Amino acid sequence: MVAPWRSPLARSLHKHRHLPHARYLQLATVTPTGEPTNRTVVFRGFAESNDGLQFVTDHRSAKIQHLQVNPQAEACWYFVETREQYRISGRVQIVTGDERRPLWEALSAKARQQFAWPHPGQPRAESKAFAVAAPALPPDTFWVLRLWPDRVERLALRGDPQDRWHYWREGDTWHQVDWNP
Ligand SMILES: Cc1cc2nc3c(=O)[nH]c(=O)nc-3n(C[C@H](O)[C@H](O)[C@H](O)COP(=O)(O)O)c2cc1C
Repeated sequence: MVAPWRSPLARSLHKHRHLPHARYLQLATVTPTGEPTNRTVVFRGFAESNDGLQFVTDHRSAKIQHLQVNPQAEACWYFVETREQYRISGRVQIVTGDERRPLWEALSAKARQQFAWPHPGQPRAESKAFAVAAPALPPDTFWVLRLWPDRVERLALRGDPQDRWHYWREGDTWHQVDWNP
């Protein structure tokens, strides 16, 4: 069964397909010491025939250390033209191995090159350390994240009063309720 929040989200994405930055969203994780952290990532599509939201990242990045201790995360995604916000919470699966391949192949050469750059989040290396060729195959630094939602909230500012929908999953069953804004 397709989750009930998928079709509004697909519609929001479709209406913003002319805006590449509509695929940017914020993904929050929790540090091992319990502090919230947040960063912008690019939505790289749904996992094949299911509800997992996919992102790519460098395995040396801090968010990986957070997720390895606590896989819980929340995405916050605002669509400018339809004035909708989605908050999507769930657990993040870290994908390594061959399953990364299709997402690696979909990346531009410039995006691929970044995975061969010096360690992110360290003092800046010399410029020549960044002048590297884009690897042909997914390097060990390239990891895929899959956020498996178990709670989604959609807020549409357009209504008067505004509309807020809450979706949550119990096992394979999704429930839905309309909330006061
Ligand atoms: C528009 C935009 C898109 C970004 N896309 C990604 C992305 O898809 N994956 C990623 O790991 N970081 C992406 N970043 C960089 C992150 O926001 C962040 O700076 C980096 O991942 C390090 O975060 P961390 O130290 O919390 O792991 C993007 C930044 C911007 C401004």
